[in-house]
Amino acid sequence: MREKGHPPEPEERPGEPVGVVFGTVGSLNFRCILRDPEVKEMDHVQVYHPTVGWVLGMVDSIELQSDLSQEGALVDLSGSDARATWRRVARISMIGRREESGPIFRPLTPVLPASKVYRADEDMLKRTLGLRLDRSEGVYVGKIFHTDVDVVLDPSELVKKHVSIIAKTGSGKSYTCGVLIEELSDKGIPVVVLDLHGEYHSLMSPNLDDDQYLRMRRFDIAPEGLSERLSEFSFMPSDDDGEGPHPIGIDIKGFKAEELLQLMGIRNMGVGTSILYNALNTAKEVLDDAYDLSDVLSIVENDHNPAKWNIVNGLQHLLSMPFFSSPSTPLSEMVQKGRISIIGLGDVPLDQQQIGVAALVRRLYIARREGAIPPFMLVVEEAHNFCPQTGPAVTKEIIKTIASEGRKFGLGLMVVTQRAAKVDKNVLSQCGTQIIMKVTNPNDIKAIISSVEGLDTRMSDEIQRLPVSIAIVVGGNVSNPILTEIRIRRTRHGGDEVEVLS
Ligand SMILES: Nc1ncnc2c1ncn2[C@@H]1O[C@H](COP(=O)(O)OP(=O)(O)O)[C@@H](O)[C@H]1O
Ligand SMILES: [Mg+2]
Repeated sequence: MREKGHPPEPEERPGEPVGVVFGTVGSLNFRCILRDPEVKEMDHVQVYHPTVGWVLGMVDSIELQSDLSQEGALVDLSGSDARATWRRVARISMIGRREESGPIFRPLTPVLPASKVYRADEDMLKRTLGLRLDRSEGVYVGKIFHTDVDVVLDPSELVKKHVSIIAKTGSGKSYTCGVLIEELSDKGIPVVVLDLHGEYHSLMSPNLDDDQYLRMRRFDIAPEGLSERLSEFSFMPSDDDGEGPHPIGIDIKGFKAEELLQLMGIRNMGVGTSILYNALNTAKEVLDDAYDLSDVLSIVENDHNPAKWNIVNGLQHLLSMPFFSSPSTPLSEMVQKGRISIIGLGDVPLDQQQIGVAALVRRLYIARREGAIPPFMLVVEEAHNFCPQTGPAVTKEIIKTIASEGRKFGLGLMVVTQRAAKVDKNVLSQCGTQIIMKVTNPNDIKAIISSVEGLDTRMSDEIQRLPVSIAIVVGGNVSNPILTEIRIRRTRHGGDEVEVLS
């Protein structure tokens, strides 16, 4: 049966229409002829639905439909001027409607043909996409692309459910990470950064980059250094003059025998486990919890079991590393309200780097579990090295544990990588919020799409073409993927000098 009529016209409209719905109209997606040439892919629009009211949609793709035939085009090739006329047609996918609270409701029937399509207004966007917090309450990462709408993430979602930042090298991962660190520390959340390339020392200084300065106005940001909030640590001993980063000392309280064996790289854990297990128990009893690695070594040395030598060697190896023999760093100094602690890994010999990180992160995890330090965010750059999908890494177990259990007591991971396909799948899919910037490697794109809820293969083209500073933000309090212009940093970005040096 044919039906006809006019679509309903609401009294209040958000400005001038940018297009009109035509053709076959589906409840999941529909097409509209665009009148406004400024409308782009991933822009948000709103349309009035006959029973539901205003609904939000997103532009999936735009086509120019021309009347120029193949023959016409051939005429043009032969030298004479062929003229064409065309129409701009947008394919729009339905997102739906959300009242002040509750989930998004997607209407089960289509909007009507001939409905006018408008750019989504700010209120509609914020309400439907879940951007309820304002800058003072949340983590202000930037603005919805080409709009004035702030993208503000919920800090407790980030800490409880982790966040990943994925992009190929040079696309703005560390820069964005810097933005998140500034914001989290503003909100009083402690941040611990595993800094591989010496990129985060520059959080000390204000961002005085000329080009970026001009764009600060758009984001309502002013240059500011955070030297007051920054502490720097190193796994290496301090200089003779005691200047420079604080040397890290790690105590092994709370470590299980298996975990120590893992740090020593001992795989065959049979007899070794029981020798070490007994030694740890003895240390606890005799030294009343005030034991360190050298005490455990002395106890193992006195063991009569000849299998002990493996363990003795392993413990001696650990004790040869400065961070196991130095006085232990009080973790309450490293993890403090609003404080940013940079753990410099640049100078550490490679074989010690992973062991140091594994031990420190485990110690932090234990301290957090026991409530000795407040909830905090741990930034893991080059995450594919610390929790690889294949191959061994001493850090892998503890990072996986935090990814799956950290949310129970507030230990957030910020997983930063250029190789999504090489990061442990479980870790990646445990991240509640994703910030995805330009990625071109097909395997990485596949890994992103399969681990991120709300992204589908249609977005893979989009991801390959994202310009620097533009990200797709999805998850957490954000209910649908949002194209976000990442804000300018208040602090100086340290990634650039690194390139010059290397
Ligand atoms: N949001 C942004 N605004 C302005 N410049 C940016 C932004 N994001 C990245 N850049 C610039 O892009 C370059 C690469 O960024 P970086 O974060 O170091 O890349 P990655 O860590 O992914 O290799 C830097 O020079 C940085 O200044
Ligand atoms: Mg980087």
